[in-house]
Amino acid sequence: MTEPTGQPVRAPRVQREVTSFVRRSSRMRPVHLRAWERLRHAYVLEVPQRAASTSVAPGRPLDVAAAFGRTAPLVVEIGPGTGESLVTMAAARPEIDVLAFEVYLPGIARTVHRLHETGVANVRLVPSDAVDGLTHLLGPGSLQEVWTFFPDPWPKARHHKRRLVDRAFADLVASRLRPGGLWRLATDWADYAEQIRSLLDAQPQLVNEGGGRDGWAERWPDRPLTRFERRGIEAGRTVHDLRYRRR
Ligand SMILES: C[S@@+](CC[C@H](N)C(=O)[O-])C[C@H]1O[C@@H](n2cnc3c(N)ncnc32)[C@H](O)[C@@H]1O
Repeated sequence: MTEPTGQPVRAPRVQREVTSFVRRSSRMRPVHLRAWERLRHAYVLEVPQRAASTSVAPGRPLDVAAAFGRTAPLVVEIGPGTGESLVTMAAARPEIDVLAFEVYLPGIARTVHRLHETGVANVRLVPSDAVDGLTHLLGPGSLQEVWTFFPDPWPKARHHKRRLVDRAFADLVASRLRPGGLWRLATDWADYAEQIRSLLDAQPQLVNEGGGRDGWAERWPDRPLTRFERRGIEAGRTVHDLRYRRR
């Protein structure tokens, strides 16, 4: 099989044994439940699954132009939560399309509500594991940017294996970025920041663009402060931004 670009499809990534999330209760506030029921068809993409509801089946790449109704540079956000920063960042750049992977259904419902309230039209949500989604829905070299802001820190050492950014994930994201594309990340957990940085510095297709504090990137000014970032700052943690460019 080949990609639309004529490139051979990469072998599907072996399913991770542990996921970077545990699906939490799906209770939604009535206003978000109503948004979910009335509006999800406009913003949430149904993708083929394997057995797990957060999985993505192989062999059916996403028709991105059909999903957005146009062709535009594509950015992926991983884990937008309730869309607190996603909607503002997408609104600021109407010339891009943003595909967001999120597994937390109440968060997706809130994002749908925000998109509708603000009239932001360049976002689509996929209620699936981003690892599966990047592997099966998107082709190599298809992304202008990837955003990963405040990934779940899994602070206990015995849970570190759940952290989203590992070596295989770094390889996967690097393969999906187009040459010159950017991966922007931020975390308020110092040891996770160090771990991400050493993994990404060692990834041969990525170049660290952090020209700011000792190889860390300056805070991206377009990234609004979210509840997660505020909570980290209030707890006395330092936020590290990272920015890597695909060779
Ligand atoms: C700590 S929250 C950060 C939310 C948002 N980025 C912010 O800065 O406010 C992390 C989010 O990532 C989502 N998440 C974790 N692993 C994921 C995965 N493999 N695929 C998609 N979403 C994931 C979680 O459900 C959660 O909503």
